[in-house]
Amino acid sequence: MEVKQSKIWQPYTQMQTAPESINITKAKDEFLFSENGDKIIDGISSWWVNLFGHCHPHIAQKLQEQTKALEQVIFSGFHHPKAEELCDKLSEFLPKNQTKFFFTDNGSTAVEAALKMCLQYFINIEAPRNKILALDGAYHGDTFGAMSVSERGAFTEPFHRLLFDVTFLPFPNTSKNETALLEKLDSLDTSEYAAIIVEPLIQGSAGMRMYSKEMLEKIFAFCKSKGILIIADEVFTGFGRTGKVFATDYVKTKPDIYCLSKGITGGFLPMGMTTTTEEIYNAFLSDTKTKMLFHGHSYTGNALSCAAACASMDLMKDTETTVNIKRIVSAHSIFLESLKKYKKVEWARQLGTILAFELKTEETSGYLNSKRDEIYNFFISKNILLRPLGNTIYFLPPYCISDESLKKVYTAITQLINQ
Ligand SMILES: Cc1ncc(COP(=O)(O)O)c(C=O)c1O
Repeated sequence: MEVKQSKIWQPYTQMQTAPESINITKAKDEFLFSENGDKIIDGISSWWVNLFGHCHPHIAQKLQEQTKALEQVIFSGFHHPKAEELCDKLSEFLPKNQTKFFFTDNGSTAVEAALKMCLQYFINIEAPRNKILALDGAYHGDTFGAMSVSERGAFTEPFHRLLFDVTFLPFPNTSKNETALLEKLDSLDTSEYAAIIVEPLIQGSAGMRMYSKEMLEKIFAFCKSKGILIIADEVFTGFGRTGKVFATDYVKTKPDIYCLSKGITGGFLPMGMTTTTEEIYNAFLSDTKTKMLFHGHSYTGNALSCAAACASMDLMKDTETTVNIKRIVSAHSIFLESLKKYKKVEWARQLGTILAFELKTEETSGYLNSKRDEIYNFFISKNILLRPLGNTIYFLPPYCISDESLKKVYTAITQLINQ
């Protein structure tokens, strides 16, 4: 059979060995419809971006209205009502200390802007600090700054010599590592550190690795006491994924900077956002232009993305969303208990709407585990999109998923384990 060669070069895909990509022509709620007539459950919310279901009518309508008013305008010297509205809407969810909103294009660029803000903040106040803290296993994106603060592993290996130095703290998933992390913090010359960046409570790409809110609070409290700026990368965890609007809502000490993206537009359009405090913003105010933030993107503050994000925030406030999130949380927790009895299942875990476990294989766990493709294909054969991270299987559906679809996915997972 002749293999159809597409012109498309897909991300995170070995194009030589990957099966032929599925052509999706339509989507609705939790379903993707292929050109072949398959109806596929989107069990990973299309790379974690979709919150309320595909083609949600409220977002679609607001977007359509916006296309008739304004699609895009340069965002320097000009702005537009939807950008202002979005800042107001986000303010309702964010801690009160977040008063300034910097628009970018995606999660990686939200992280780049955050890192630049922190490093330049200390230059602007004439007390330079050049070092950054991050956690082992971190993933903050694929641009060079974001890669620098991410785990030195397979994702970044070809570029290691070009990445800037970062101090990585042990990932606090065991009491030994928790102690090691706190000892490492204590041993640092903290006056050299500008910022810490973390994925709060759960590292997504590292394999849905969870850690406790008590540890998150300890890390934040320590950094706050030493004047180290706290960047919460909520690109994945933001907007209800963890059961609260933000993962950092579980702790008392509030970050100085939030990186937001993915679900911000409900999965309709790309958008990134770096929010910050009055104090950081004020350090960039000066009579000299060199103190300004030299950062921006052509599509910064795109009016269509802003309209989609405003509509997405409306839905975030809707009681139906709260009810749906609670429904998934409780369904996951019942299924989680049943998972724990299987010998082939390790580290079954849940945080809000995120369910994950490791399927025991003869190899060590990790992203390059050779069982990954088999697992992926098994679910695809059942018309379910679950995209394991190596042998880590995770399920995080759009909040609108029906009980029937939830059950279908749980059943397929059980069949895989029993196979
Ligand atoms: C925590 C986190 N930060 C940043 C990113 C990068 O976002 P993007 O893919 O939109 O550049 C991701 C993407 O998965 C992420 O999970």
